[in-house]
Amino acid sequence: MVNNIEDCTPIIENTTNQDITVSIPCNDDNQQSQDVNKDVTLTKRQLKKIKKREQWLERKGEKRKKERAKAKERKAYAKANNIDLGPSRKQLKSCTMADSPCKLNVTIDCSFDELMISKDIGKLIKQTLRCYSLNRRAVAPVQFSLSNFQGLTLAEMSKHNGYENWDVKFHSQNYLDIFPKDKIVYLTSESNNVIEKLDHDSIYVIGGLVDHNSQKGLCHKLAVENGVKHGRLPLDHYLQMKARKVLTIDHVFEIILRVTEGKSWQEAFLQVLPERKNAKPVVENSQTVDSGTDESQKSQSDEEGKDMPTSEVEKS
Ligand SMILES: C[S@@+](CC[C@H](N)C(=O)[O-])C[C@H]1O[C@@H](n2cnc3c(N)ncnc32)[C@H](O)[C@@H]1O
Repeated sequence: MVNNIEDCTPIIENTTNQDITVSIPCNDDNQQSQDVNKDVTLTKRQLKKIKKREQWLERKGEKRKKERAKAKERKAYAKANNIDLGPSRKQLKSCTMADSPCKLNVTIDCSFDELMISKDIGKLIKQTLRCYSLNRRAVAPVQFSLSNFQGLTLAEMSKHNGYENWDVKFHSQNYLDIFPKDKIVYLTSESNNVIEKLDHDSIYVIGGLVDHNSQKGLCHKLAVENGVKHGRLPLDHYLQMKARKVLTIDHVFEIILRVTEGKSWQEAFLQVLPERKNAKPVVENSQTVDSGTDESQKSQSDEEGKDMPTSEVEKS
């Protein structure tokens, strides 16, 4: 059996057909023999992928060396010019989720593998890495996890060596099997419930779905089907913006992080949202925004009548 085709160097025998038969020398642990040549039919696309990966592996070492040299240069320049480069590796190590005073949970629900093409799974991982990086650099990191972490998402993440040791909890189970159901709040822009305050006892779920709006309303539908609370960020209370109010995973994560750090919703939105969203602050609300205790912004009741997730914000 060929365990990992991409680890073997194929020998091309026929280049005229669409599908190409190649001979792959490989070590098969299940057999007594040492080297066995296997005939495997690969498509041109698969071969291209293998070649691309080989080229990437060849360049990887050199690239790392260059990156290290550049980082060294940058550090030396920053030191000489008194420039703050952010927390050091040592500082980062001491700032972990376990030691954080912030106990608010945020989990990314990675159960949407089958709805994404591989490019979008790549984007999901990129956004997840950004969430991780933001959390590592936060003064008080939130309790960050990935749920339903398996299959293609796990495979894509595995490209990042040592990810298992990162300060993130990786759960293969569904978020419903990890957290108490009554504490779960699924974040979804389609919810009629506006979150006024974050509750540090709640578990906020972000849908790990990069869909370019092709699956509109899916996370809301699933939250309703699963009987969990759901809520949307209070964008329209604090901002005027014509752009879509469906945000990326890392933007949602960062907004939550900033609010747990003590920023008002409005400050967090304006800091995090990209310029292309062209978001302008709603001036009438600015007085109450900073207090974070505005009673006038009541959540709308949900159409389904079940779920009212508006919870309290406690500052970390
Ligand atoms: C790119 S969106 C995915 C959109 C997807 N069609 C859906 O059904 O949610 C990624 C995730 O970010 C969160 N999200 C995006 N915009 C939000 C908003 N305005 N309020 C609350 N959550 C939001 C949701 O958890 C959402 O699943």
